[in-house]
Amino acid sequence: DWNSGNVIAEQVDRIREQIGSARVISALSGGVDSAVSTALVHKAVGDQLTAIFVDHGLLRKGEREQVENDYVASTGVRLITVDAREQFLEALAGVSDPEQKRKIIGREFIRSFEAAERDLVAEAAADGEPIRFLVQGTLYPDVVESGGGTGTANIKSHHNVGGLPEDLQFELVEPLRTLFKDEVRAIGRELGLPEAIVGRQPFPGPGLGIRIVGEVTADRLEILRDADAIARAELTKAGLDNEIWQCPVVLLADVRSVGVQGDGRTYGHPIVLRPVSSEDAMTADWTRLPYDVLSKISNRITNEVRDVNRVVLDVTSKPPGTIEWE
Ligand code: XMP
Repeated sequence: DWNSGNVIAEQVDRIREQIGSARVISALSGGVDSAVSTALVHKAVGDQLTAIFVDHGLLRKGEREQVENDYVASTGVRLITVDAREQFLEALAGVSDPEQKRKIIGREFIRSFEAAERDLVAEAAADGEPIRFLVQGTLYPDVVESGGGTGTANIKSHHNVGGLPEDLQFELVEPLRTLFKDEVRAIGRELGLPEAIVGRQPFPGPGLGIRIVGEVTADRLEILRDADAIARAELTKAGLDNEIWQCPVVLLADVRSVGVQGDGRTYGHPIVLRPVSSEDAMTADWTRLPYDVLSKISNRITNEVRDVNRVVLDVTSKPPGTIEWE
């Protein structure tokens, strides 16, 4: 029967066997999958591992700090942060099409990751222990939804499976490949990772970039980040985190509607709340949130976030809707 302690011990043995004395690198995203897979590999091979965290500027409030401070403190993982915020904004300028955004974000992610990785490869070669392995936080549902292989085309080009370039000279280490999300969380807790990371809702690789319907700009990111932080804080305060699979907060940047505030007319953007309940993200239903919680979120967002004058609720199941708006 399933027990997180056993799985950890078993995986640590396997990882040691696979990696030997070589070096290994990992891409941390701030999410639970990469956090747990990286922590497992670190437990197995210690400082043979270096983790790379690309801050693409599409993160939610506080996520970089969670990784740089809390995660590192609880694991001891050697971490390199790449600040690529400007680079991503420039690459995304003028782009509204969702798949185009994903392509650009995927491409820039690889570019930033490879720049950091090249430095490490050079350093490792000088030490005589080459980097041979790359950690991937692939879960069982990712494997299934992507057709079982790597790099397979998908309805949406998810970039957590097969998203890194095929010409990378690394063998993959995928210690979560047979596991479901709740099992991964149990392992993360057993490993002592911060609850903010272990309990985090799924968050797409392209981040807030695919939650702004329209062009991604620094200004719009700031608006969305503030609205998202309010929604998350209120859902947590109401004790609803376990009822919700995830709750995308979406900025309709190309839509404006008329409002009134004080004695002035406003012409601002709507924010969409998309709370869903799901087992595995393949299907989902919209979560019946209590009215008072919705009301609190709506009041706070329209009062506290500039340029937002309306909050709307998405009541579509999946299918026919997807969880994300893009
Ligand atoms: P959809 O919107 O397809 O989302 O119903 C299903 C799950 O996948 C996440 N998602 C992504 N994850 N890269 C990712 O890593 C992506 O491009 C992407 N698009 C959607 C979404 O948040 C949900 O959990």
